[in-house]
Amino acid sequence: MLNFFRLKKENKAAGEDIHIDLDNIPQHIAIIMDGNGRWAKERMLPRTMGHKAGVEAIRGIVKECSSLGIKYLTLYAFSTENWKRSNEEVSALMNLLVQYLRNEFKELNENNVIINHIGDISKLPQVCQQELKNAYENTKNNTGLTLNLALNYGGRDEILRAVKNIYEDIKDGKIREENIDENTIASHLDTKGMPDPDIIIRPSGEQRLSNFLLWQCAYSEFWYSNIKWPDFKKEHLHKAIYDFQNRDRRFGGVK
Ligand code: IPE
Ligand code: IPE
Ligand code: MG
Repeated sequence: MLNFFRLKKENKAAGEDIHIDLDNIPQHIAIIMDGNGRWAKERMLPRTMGHKAGVEAIRGIVKECSSLGIKYLTLYAFSTENWKRSNEEVSALMNLLVQYLRNEFKELNENNVIINHIGDISKLPQVCQQELKNAYENTKNNTGLTLNLALNYGGRDEILRAVKNIYEDIKDGKIREENIDENTIASHLDTKGMPDPDIIIRPSGEQRLSNFLLWQCAYSEFWYSNIKWPDFKKEHLHKAIYDFQNRDRRFGGVK
């Protein structure tokens, strides 16, 4: 029997009767959390206030993904290119990460969430690395949503690291060159063992990937919105899932 989650009331403003099919929930949602700076600028606030508001938006979305039974949520929080920003902005972002992990750990753990990270965290300040490792160690046996925080993450950097690791494995005799296939590459990425994202959501009006999940996005559905990340609410998530459920995914075949 089809199991619908009615969202008519919440989407009244849009005049749409949206219902999510709970039997066809995406397994993996990835979000490029963009627009914090512009959100702050519109309010004549410093950019860092936009990032603070952006962290607030994370809480509701993680909770909603958890309760909808989504298995993986990947949040793009800091790219390999974001080091180009001022020292002040970078350190504010790093501090917010530490605060987020400290403030949210208890509730995330109670909600059965695994707090994971992707990207090369060895370049992050020690305190961030330690908090991320602790969060993962203390939640890795949970069985609910896996929350992937993408930090110092770049799709090209991830593929480059995978290539180097595969080369090492060949030298060590763990892999034979003739056996290298797509699975070899996928299993050397930070997302090893995880399904590819079904939807990639980008708020803020930009329509680009900005080096996010380049290998994994081969057949992802893209969903863009002009809403800036600090204003992104569960209604927007519902609309993205609803639209996803109404798309025709062919994976190169013919229906
Ligand atoms: C996204 O918001 C957060 C990070 C990249 C860390 P931005 O800071 O990119 O916000 P805009 O794009 O300047 O509005
Ligand atoms: C992408 O946003 C990275 C994150 C949201 C963490 P950016 O704001 O850095 O991307 P560009 O510069 O607009 O492409
Ligand atoms: Mg941006």
